[in-house]
Amino acid sequence: MKKTLIVNYTPRIGSNTKELVDYFIEQNQDKTEINFIDLTKTTPDLLLEENLNLFLKRNYAGVPLDDKETKILSKNDKMLQQVLDADFIVLAYPLYNFSLPATVKAWVDAITQAGKTFNMTETGYVGLCEGKQALVLMTTGGDFGIEPAKSMNFATPLISTELSFIGIPSEHIFAFGLQQYVCIWVFGWR
Ligand SMILES: Cc1cc2nc3c(=O)[nH]c(=O)nc-3n(C[C@H](O)[C@H](O)[C@H](O)COP(=O)(O)O)c2cc1C
Repeated sequence: MKKTLIVNYTPRIGSNTKELVDYFIEQNQDKTEINFIDLTKTTPDLLLEENLNLFLKRNYAGVPLDDKETKILSKNDKMLQQVLDADFIVLAYPLYNFSLPATVKAWVDAITQAGKTFNMTETGYVGLCEGKQALVLMTTGGDFGIEPAKSMNFATPLISTELSFIGIPSEHIFAFGLQQYVCIWVFGWR
């Protein structure tokens, strides 16, 4: 059975985006083996001084790391391996400030690794994840289906480019114009 990795960032109680994820699971759980990462619980390490320099040392300079150094990169490496192991990737998040939530961008930074998901060649960059496909589920507060908001959705071109860069074509499903407050203040917590 093909494997699907669901990468979910839906921290809000009563999340609209989580409803899309739950519907996807309901419709597909018999058709594919589903693995799940909740990025609000298993959060990628930001690339900061220690891990960024180890990452460059290993992936770009080709210098082997010792066990202690390898452990420092292990959380993000595990996220990378989950992508390498999957046939399909479902990525779900709300639009935050016209772009990807920072935690989702941190996941992209974790999985975009030279020598693992892409290679630099004499003729340019080559994605190494061929054969995989992604589905992106995104919800927004405003109506990003029409201008002027449409041109301000930087999340979709960004994630499409990031996935394509590592060799993964993506399809996108949107739910625009969703409230965050009504269900809490009018209908109570759910
Ligand atoms: C920090 C933050 C930033 C947001 N930025 C935008 C935005 O730029 N454009 C927009 O239309 N909605 C924005 N929203 C609204 C959410 O994208 C929208 O309500 C979404 O459906 C919430 O998803 P959720 O129910 O899964 O939390 C923002 C919400 C939050 C919490």
